[in-house]
Amino acid sequence: MNQVKQVIGVIGAGSMGQALIAGWVAQDSPDREILALVRDLPKYQILSEKFGPSVRVTDDRSELLQCSTIVIAIKPQMIRELLHEFTPFIAPDCLLISVAAGITCGFIENCFPQTQQVIRAMPNTPSIIGKGVTGVSAGAGCSRESVNRAVQLMSAVGTVVELPESQQNDLAAVSGSGPAYLFYLAENMIHGAQELGLDSELAQSLVRQTLVGAAELLAVSPAGPEQLRQQVTSPGGMTAAAMEVLDAREVGQAVIDALGRGTERARELGG
Ligand SMILES: NC(=O)c1ccc[n+]([C@@H]2O[C@H](COP(=O)([O-])OP(=O)(O)OC[C@H]3O[C@@H](n4cnc5c(N)ncnc54)[C@H](OP(=O)(O)O)[C@@H]3O)[C@@H](O)[C@H]2O)c1
Repeated sequence: MNQVKQVIGVIGAGSMGQALIAGWVAQDSPDREILALVRDLPKYQILSEKFGPSVRVTDDRSELLQCSTIVIAIKPQMIRELLHEFTPFIAPDCLLISVAAGITCGFIENCFPQTQQVIRAMPNTPSIIGKGVTGVSAGAGCSRESVNRAVQLMSAVGTVVELPESQQNDLAAVSGSGPAYLFYLAENMIHGAQELGLDSELAQSLVRQTLVGAAELLAVSPAGPEQLRQQVTSPGGMTAAAMEVLDAREVGQAVIDALGRGTERARELGG
């Protein structure tokens, strides 16, 4: 009798592929083996040392046939160009999880008629430190068991939310791109601090710790962001004066518009 092997494959061991591998290795599951499928073996051989014996690195696509689950973590344009080349190397009923922005479950299903178990997932960069948030959507024929397995795997790099695929572009604009909005704020707070006369090192340290502290406060506080903001803003005080500048420049509306444009662009890229 054939025993189902718990081999998880990852096609593409770049930043997201490696973040996921790191999360699974940290879970230290003895009945699981991880296969990293790369195209440039010498470049990625170092991953065996980095992650230890539970991770095997290969450039032999036929090894994917042993996998019960495969995460597709190559760039969307590469997926469009060459994913069909992988068709002979995917086992029947294999669970396929694509983390590629804008690539639909339908596209993956068309490439791999041997399985209906297809999931579209959108993580974000804090996944690299296990603090990501991933939106997971099931393809039309995907079973509940497969969705649960995908949720469990993506939980290795942070929290997971389930949502219909029709909302994936919206999620991408909020949490996928979201870290960039905060980094943009950080960059400009650092520039502003330097313009006030603080040296670069002090400016960076103050801004980093302020954003980290504020984010952690937001995470644990029963109060929402509006109430937390009001707590810092005494009427007629200096924060109120600073906020008046942001309001006068309609920064709040600009953020809302940016999310809208991000969603629109995700739809354009999805084709
Ligand atoms: N990074 C993020 O924050 C993030 C967030 C959400 C979703 N994603 C999605 O995750 C996917 C990967 O993004 P990334 O940021 O991790 O990109 P990345 O760092 O550029 O990684 C892409 C990897 O794919 C590999 N690759 C390309 N063609 C291949 C092939 N034929 N066979 C095997 N490996 C191949 C590349 O290898 P080479 O070194 O040989 O080129 C590289 O290691 C994208 O679809 C992206 O939309 C990323």
